[in-house]
Amino acid sequence: METKTAGMTRKDFLAMLCGTGAVVLGGCAQSGETSGAASASSSAATTATQAKGTVLVAYFSATGNTRRVAQAAATALGADLFEIAPVSPYSDDDLNYDDDSSRASQEYADESKRSVELTQVTPDGFASYDTVLLGYPIWWGIAAWPTNGFVAGNDFAGKTVVPFCTSISSPVGESATGLESLASGDAGAWAEGQRFDSGVSDDEVRSWVSGLAIG
Ligand SMILES: Cc1cc2nc3c(=O)[nH]c(=O)nc-3n(C[C@H](O)[C@H](O)[C@H](O)COP(=O)(O)O)c2cc1C
Repeated sequence: METKTAGMTRKDFLAMLCGTGAVVLGGCAQSGETSGAASASSSAATTATQAKGTVLVAYFSATGNTRRVAQAAATALGADLFEIAPVSPYSDDDLNYDDDSSRASQEYADESKRSVELTQVTPDGFASYDTVLLGYPIWWGIAAWPTNGFVAGNDFAGKTVVPFCTSISSPVGESATGLESLASGDAGAWAEGQRFDSGVSDDEVRSWVSGLAIG
């Protein structure tokens, strides 16, 4: 699957999502489809990621799903939270992937438009964190690009980065390595990305967090 091709049509988008075997956006016509909630259980398997020390959970969320995961993870870890916030937030209309002229569709179609100004790039006291959990939604198979400026604009040297995403059905794929490649200089140590269903439960997030061996 070529996820980085600009100009993916709605048909391509649905075909991509349907190819995962999961129900999405009312567009798949397959039998044996699984609901988003059902698919979450397999995606939240614990990992052996080694993270350590003081933890920051940084996230971008346009419609609240990744925010819920970030909040649950931060609560479980006693970690600080940082929201990656565009100066110009995305409205519902902006996010309408059915509309080729929507902001998100236009940004997806033209990579030069994906540079999104953030209200704050570097969290207060960023240097003091040993581990950064980094959350974002999947947009057209890749990390939602408002996250890019956070990665490109900060120094991750000496830190462990644990990426996680939410999506309706797309896998984490290369979204995490794509972000890692944006880090300038020493990118720190990046763990494998973890994907959660959009409707993942707090329990599943806690289960994942408990497998991170942060201490
Ligand atoms: C513009 C746009 C593109 C999306 N592309 C995908 C996709 O390629 N695959 C997928 O499974 N979900 C896709 N989704 C669904 C989101 O990944 C999913 O709803 C996610 O949980 C949203 O997180 P948030 O509420 O934190 O913004 C897309 C949503 C939007 C708004």
